[in-house]
Amino acid sequence: MKIRTDKRERDMTRPSRVGRLHLTVTLLLCSSLRCHAVGLSDLLDRASQLSDKLHALSTSLTSDLDTHFPTMGRIMMPHPSTCHTSSLQTPNDKDQVLSVPESELLSLIRSLLLSWNDPLLLLALEAPTLAHPSNSAIYSKTKELQDNTHSLSAGLEHLTHKIGSSNSFTPLPFKGGNLGQDNTSRLIYFHFLLSCFRRDSHKIDSFLKVLRCRAAKLRPETC
Ligand SMILES: *[C@@H]1O[C@H](CO)[C@@H](O)[C@H](O)[C@H]1NC(C)=O
Repeated sequence: MKIRTDKRERDMTRPSRVGRLHLTVTLLLCSSLRCHAVGLSDLLDRASQLSDKLHALSTSLTSDLDTHFPTMGRIMMPHPSTCHTSSLQTPNDKDQVLSVPESELLSLIRSLLLSWNDPLLLLALEAPTLAHPSNSAIYSKTKELQDNTHSLSAGLEHLTHKIGSSNSFTPLPFKGGNLGQDNTSRLIYFHFLLSCFRRDSHKIDSFLKVLRCRAAKLRPETC
C-alpha cells in the first residue's frame, strides 16, 4: 500500500508526534478489506516500528521517573522475577527464538502484549496524581504507550490472519488492582511495573524483528 501524503496531510502530520502516531494508527487499523492488500512484510515492518516505539517510550519513562526517585525506592523495588508476566515461558536467546515456529512466536507476542492491557490502564489512571514533578509528562507518555500497545495489538491480529497462530494466546492475570497507599509506595510500584513493561517490550521487539527477518526469507543466521 502506498502511503499518500499530499501537502495538506504532510502539514498536518509533521509538527507533532501525535500526528505521526495517528498516521501509524490509521495504517494499522485499516479495514480488513484494505489490509488484504498489505503484504506480510509491510505489516511486519509497521509492527516492528511500533514495538520499537514502545520500547523507546518505556525507556524514556523510566528515566523520567529516575530524575526524582526516592533512594529507598531502589531497595524497596520488587524483584523483576515477580513481574506478572514472568511465568510466561519465552525463549532466552536468539538461537532459541529461531527454533520457535513463527505462529508460536506470534502467539507469545500477543499473550505478552495482551497481559499489559490492565496494568497499562492502571498506570494511565495513576500517572496524573503521581508524587513526581514530571507527572504530566509521565501521564502523556503513559497514554501514548497505551495507544501504541492497542495499535500493535490490532496489527498483530492482522498478522495472525496471515501467519496463523497456535491459537492459545492467553493474557496472564494481573492482580495488582492499585498501586499502594502512600506516595512513596505508589511511585515505587509505578516504576516497578514500567520496568517490567520495558523488559517485555524488549522481548516483543526482538521477537518481531526475528519474524520480520524470517518473512523476508533471509538466511536464519542473518536474523
Ligand atoms: C502526595 O502527593 C500528592 C501529589 O504530589 C501531594 O499533593 C500530597 O501532598 C502528597 N502527600 C503526602 C502525604 O506527602
